[in-house]
Amino acid sequence: MTKPYPPIGYSDYLKVDDLLQLQCPRAEQFGISAHDEMLFIIVHQTYELWFKQILTELDSVLRIFARPKVDENALGTVVSRLGRITEIQRVLIDQISILETMTPLDFLEFRDALFPASGFQSIQFRLLENKLGLPRAQRLPFNAQPYTAYVGEAERARLEQSEKDVSLFECVEKWLERTPFLESDGFAFWELYRKAVARMFESDRELVRKNKVLNDEQRDKNLDGISANEDGFNAIFDEKRYNELRDQGSWRMSLRALHAALLINLYRDQPILQLPFRVLVSLQDIDENFTTWRYRHALMVHRMLGSKVGTGGSSGHRYLRAATDQHRVYGDLFNLATFLIPRSALPELPKAMRERLGFYYSDKKEG
Ligand code: HEM
Repeated sequence: MTKPYPPIGYSDYLKVDDLLQLQCPRAEQFGISAHDEMLFIIVHQTYELWFKQILTELDSVLRIFARPKVDENALGTVVSRLGRITEIQRVLIDQISILETMTPLDFLEFRDALFPASGFQSIQFRLLENKLGLPRAQRLPFNAQPYTAYVGEAERARLEQSEKDVSLFECVEKWLERTPFLESDGFAFWELYRKAVARMFESDRELVRKNKVLNDEQRDKNLDGISANEDGFNAIFDEKRYNELRDQGSWRMSLRALHAALLINLYRDQPILQLPFRVLVSLQDIDENFTTWRYRHALMVHRMLGSKVGTGGSSGHRYLRAATDQHRVYGDLFNLATFLIPRSALPELPKAMRERLGFYYSDKKEG
């Protein structure tokens, strides 16, 4: 087969000349010399390029998850693309220290030149948040205006559309709800799990009762703590209570999706649950990396601005620190760890179910 491509050089292929035309320090245009503005621009542009790559990966993962049935074969692709996102995020976190080689005084040389531009207006960053599944209602209020108020009309329409499109959070929730192994082969998982949990708490109580180092007051306090934990467990067995907590914002996923995520976590050693488990871990990695970036960015802003307000009009690092916690998307997956019990205490899977979940090798000849 003949190759359809005529030869091309490095610079033409990558459009290097065009790319290198795009760094235009603004202070210089007004006759002010500010050495560090070039670094500031290049770091921001690099971020936007990496955001573009993350969005490319995220869109491809969304296309796979948006199908009514997620092809198991495609899960490997999902895991590797989510893994690529986490690697890019690590670079994004590390890049902050490059910008921190600029001192606050050097930043002041050109800060006025970019007023009122702000990272707050990064469309790609907002698309990323929306596609991952950050709902508008969860966003921290910013100058009593919606986050879309700070961008142009066309960009606002793009952001609003992305809020209407199905997010990765919603796709994953639906996918989890469809997990087929929750009650099958006569295996009442939740009944057995509940008993295993009760046994685990009883053995914890026994340990506290036998602990000679504790005085009566400390013992009672420890036992109260165990009872509080047990109450927490009960919330995930009782749909009404769970839904109340969900309405109050303690949980976001449906109970069925949460049960599936828990089952996947508990029985992840079963071959068929390995890839679903890797998907859940990758989502946690992405959420954690995002949170780490937000925190590092907030610290850098504190270092650069002290208590000054941001060019976008926020309270600066205080707003950013608060957003670090408030804007997490996959907190449910982290909270699941509360409900894990040791492998040794797990209800044993019936043989028929083990065979369905695993790769079953039989001595018998087929046919
Ligand atoms: C000297 C360096 C930087 C300073 C002083 C700074 C300052 C700020 C401040 C004060 C805000 C809050 C909004 C406002 O009032 O403007 C903000 C938001 C933001 N900045 Fe930066 N920033 C810096 C570097 C960066 C870099 C390198 C990026 C990479 C793209 C970035 C991306 C963002 C984003 C995405 C937001 C919105 C965060 C959110 O709303 O949760 N910033 N920045």
